[in-house]
Amino acid sequence: MLYLTAMKSVSDNHLKYYLSTLPTAICLADRWRRLALAIPVHQEPLLTDRPPSLASTSLRTHRCGSLTRDDVGQTVRLGGWIHRRRDLGGIVFLDLRDRDGLVQLSCDPQWTTPDMMAAAAAASPETVVLVAGVVAVRREPAPDVGMATREIEVQVQRLEVVGPATTPAIPVARREGEEPATEELRLQHRVLDLRRPELQANLMLRHRLLQRARHTLTELGFLEIETPILTKPTPEGARDYLVPSRIHAGEFYALPQSPQIYKQLLMVAGFDRYFQLARCFRDEDLRADRQPEFTQIDLEASFVGQEDVLPLVERVLVDLWAEAGHAVATPFRRLPYREAMERYGIDKPDLRFGFEIEDITDRVMPGAGWVNLAVDAGGRVRAILMPDGGSLSRREIDALVEAAKSAGAGGLIWAKRTDQGWEGQGIKALPALATAPERVAAAVGTLLLAVADADAITSPALHAVRSLLMRRPGVTPRSAHAFAWVVDFPLFEREPATNEWVFTHHPFTSPHPDDTAFLESEPWRCRALHYDAVYNGNELGSGSIRITDPALQSAVFRFLGLSPEEQRRRFGFLLDALASGAPPHGGFALGFDRIVMLLAGAPSLRDVIAFPKTAAARALLEGAPTLVSAADLAALHLQSIADRSS
Ligand code: AMO
Repeated sequence: MLYLTAMKSVSDNHLKYYLSTLPTAICLADRWRRLALAIPVHQEPLLTDRPPSLASTSLRTHRCGSLTRDDVGQTVRLGGWIHRRRDLGGIVFLDLRDRDGLVQLSCDPQWTTPDMMAAAAAASPETVVLVAGVVAVRREPAPDVGMATREIEVQVQRLEVVGPATTPAIPVARREGEEPATEELRLQHRVLDLRRPELQANLMLRHRLLQRARHTLTELGFLEIETPILTKPTPEGARDYLVPSRIHAGEFYALPQSPQIYKQLLMVAGFDRYFQLARCFRDEDLRADRQPEFTQIDLEASFVGQEDVLPLVERVLVDLWAEAGHAVATPFRRLPYREAMERYGIDKPDLRFGFEIEDITDRVMPGAGWVNLAVDAGGRVRAILMPDGGSLSRREIDALVEAAKSAGAGGLIWAKRTDQGWEGQGIKALPALATAPERVAAAVGTLLLAVADADAITSPALHAVRSLLMRRPGVTPRSAHAFAWVVDFPLFEREPATNEWVFTHHPFTSPHPDDTAFLESEPWRCRALHYDAVYNGNELGSGSIRITDPALQSAVFRFLGLSPEEQRRRFGFLLDALASGAPPHGGFALGFDRIVMLLAGAPSLRDVIAFPKTAAARALLEGAPTLVSAADLAALHLQSIADRSS
């Protein structure tokens, strides 16, 4: 009865829909009756014939940017920020802004009272106003063709300042060609910065992508489960952020570098498919594509192998790209790690471009003394042969040499193919280019750029050179979206600083089944069941099939230098769980901020995170980190050796 009474004012279509839900409603009726006793009766009918727009509130009827030609003639109430004001002496135009965009307000004595005219003329940028008026066609559409409301304006009858604003510290509305404020100022005054339509658009895209990821993963049978933030160190290769415990003197929680161990425990606990939009915390050197706290689309699945995980992740990526308006083909190309390093010098190559690296050692040896020494020591001569590169100016070549040097090479050997043979500085290092030019076959006009050294030097140096070549004006990508799976990573790699063996991904990654025999004898030969998703030269995410055999997990820990006692202390809970009946499982984590940055076309992660940190890991708006009082430290059983407390 209650239900039917409430539906008195609904339309036919609504009625059909609500009748289809009747069985559920009847089951719920009893609960409703009980609820009704507890909740005050709602005065307005809950279901109305035409549900009001979600933007409509008691203070406004529409959002500024949502008005269209269809609204012409309607009286509307709006609320928003004054973006710009143009005072034409007698008539005042205000651009009013909200998250949907801008609309022109026209204040004219023909329809605006003198006191409202005065209020409009005095309203400064960023003031919040409520207005009421009639939507009309503009005499001349706004020149900005991207402005959805360019053909209309609101003829203001009432205007009320509800949020006066001090002079903004940084401009929100930028004039054509005006430089943006410095990033430091922008982050200090982030609230104003966030009002800029570009950042509003980025965060709205972020919201849509988050919802899409949730939707797709839910459709694929993944359960969203949250895992702790105050936890134990999770080894992902960075330093941990530690949180001192007040209750347990001298003990610390760590913030998760990722939910890695928890998601594995959830598989052991039988949840089968898990996902989380997981906040991760890593104390590491920051770059444009790294933040100390960031978000992953983290997932894990049971009873899977690599070939099951990759299509699941592809489906998520395809849907995210579709949400941003791009169609992407699957399956993605596969690239073994070794091949990526050989042809591109990096494990996240930008496959939109050519400029591949070739090994030309056999074709150019013997070289100058230092080249021969490098090759005798196990190095190689590797080169990029750039068609038409012969036209590069000396300045451009010098920039390439600098790029190679900054990436660690002693220099860059270069030569140009002319109809006389190879010419240029590189002849000295590689005399064979002059004496037997046909050994390095190339069309006239080709530029040869080579480095002679160990692979650990030539790969990053030639990657740096390749990156510069790709960015040259006039170089066009072969495709817009170049996705690939990089597979067959090594299980371990040497830490350059200490030369110690460390895990390439994390210590829970399963060795390749064909390589487990090498684990004790030649562990560096072991490949891992580890895969990375790369896109246009960016690492979007990583994952692996996990170790489920506690003995194998223990052997990997041992190789990494963990004594049995340390293994128990740090990972005993995982080893015990693996021994309690663990299904085969594997998963993946996508760097969500990176994805939003790429899809928004933003230059930095800071442009897609509402309140990001600087490259020095500071929050400039609120001022974090901060000193704390000696008393607060004492309560946490700490004393600062930096001798700085507030
Ligand atoms: P990994 O450490 O490779 O794997 O992280 C996965 C992805 O997270 C993103 N990412 C970052 N984004 C912004 N700022 C950072 N500081 C940052 N660090 C990483 C990257 C990266 O590819 N637990 C494993 C995943 C797994 O094995 O399932 C993990 O975290 O896009």
